[in-house]
Amino acid sequence: MFMQTLRVNIFDMAMAIAKVVDMINTAIGRHHLQVAYLAYQLADALALSDNEKFEIFIAGLLHDIGAFSLQERLDLLEFEDTQPGEHAIAGSLIIKTFKPFESIAKLIRYHHLPWRHARGAFQDHAPVPVGSHIIHLADRVAVKVSADEPVLAMVSGICESIAKRSGEIFAPEHVDALLAMRDREYIWLDAASNDIENILKRTVNYPSREFSIQQLVEFSKLICSLIDFKSEFTATHSSGVAAVAVELARITGFSRNERRLIEMAGYLHDLGKLAIPSEIIEKPGQLTQHERFVMRAHVYHTYQALEPFQVLRLVSQWGSLHQERLNGTGYPFGLDADDLPLGARIMAVADVFTALTEDRPYRKGMDAKNTKAVLKTMADQEDLDPRLIDRVFRHYDMLNTIRKNAQKEAMDAYVAFQNDLERSLKNGSMQV
Ligand SMILES: [Fe+2]
Ligand SMILES: [Fe+2]
Ligand SMILES: [Fe+2]
Repeated sequence: MFMQTLRVNIFDMAMAIAKVVDMINTAIGRHHLQVAYLAYQLADALALSDNEKFEIFIAGLLHDIGAFSLQERLDLLEFEDTQPGEHAIAGSLIIKTFKPFESIAKLIRYHHLPWRHARGAFQDHAPVPVGSHIIHLADRVAVKVSADEPVLAMVSGICESIAKRSGEIFAPEHVDALLAMRDREYIWLDAASNDIENILKRTVNYPSREFSIQQLVEFSKLICSLIDFKSEFTATHSSGVAAVAVELARITGFSRNERRLIEMAGYLHDLGKLAIPSEIIEKPGQLTQHERFVMRAHVYHTYQALEPFQVLRLVSQWGSLHQERLNGTGYPFGLDADDLPLGARIMAVADVFTALTEDRPYRKGMDAKNTKAVLKTMADQEDLDPRLIDRVFRHYDMLNTIRKNAQKEAMDAYVAFQNDLERSLKNGSMQV
């Protein structure tokens, strides 16, 4: 009997995403976790409600998720960033597509808005959530916490530089809350700690929320957009993989609920790409060996991010084993036919099928004849499961139509996202 609801903790999910996103470069450190921690402590000191604190915390974990390139992430570490609006709007546009996260998206949208002596309390003809300004302050404090010096030696300097911007950049009430934390050494030590993840788990009192499978599918789709929208080269890839995997699973006899799980696995299989700079994903021409290693690690990151979720065990297994091969030549585990579950085999086929047939900005997708030739070779050498390839051949046109439709829908969503982003930037809604 299959449960219609799964108890998944949204806090853990957001934390898993934040961790992958910060793996983009060692210079980034644990930025999202630090901002979430500091924002939570500030919200607590300001006596906000539990729900406000919780939303500020999740928004802190995800606030820079719309900064796709490594350069943009590194630029945001500078105190006086020059183009702070775009990533905030991009992140909020993607996050708001998941209904339960609408208010979190709003917090993210304005997380670089200066206070400008209370004029920053309103923007776009509406009040700006106080949490946006708290995250802004936490963010600017976090970028000042360096791994190279004892954090306690930096507290005075950090507080002074923030206090100078009270009123102009930060809300005075929030700055006062920070200054009151000056002598609470443990807060600074927590923020700089290597163990910040466990500290967060102990500090933040978070509710465990129960999600229906449908909601989890929708949440996975949100993550899918975060992954795919990193580059126009990949803007529809995971949506195509998910659709092909679901259909192949149906032909193979998977139940309705199993098909929902495989849909989630399709959306999430490239989750580890959140750790890959868009500079590598969209590099024209050959990758260097160094870049190839960075790229190859994405499957491992997918595995590490999903593995802790017991209730999503199948999703994790199917999604993170998509580069394994039946003959043992895949990665990162080098599993072989004895260890590869059917769901993972389907995911591998769906991934290869989609990669071959999809159009990319720099090349057209392969036609049926050539795709079949590649798939046949891969089945003959037992890279992919020959029984599944046989089914692909028998249902080729249907599978390809389903892929095309799913990718067309995803492309429409991507174009709408780009247009919204452009419009928001043109309207100067984040003009600093
Ligand atoms: Fe930011
Ligand atoms: Fe940030
Ligand atoms: Fe993929």
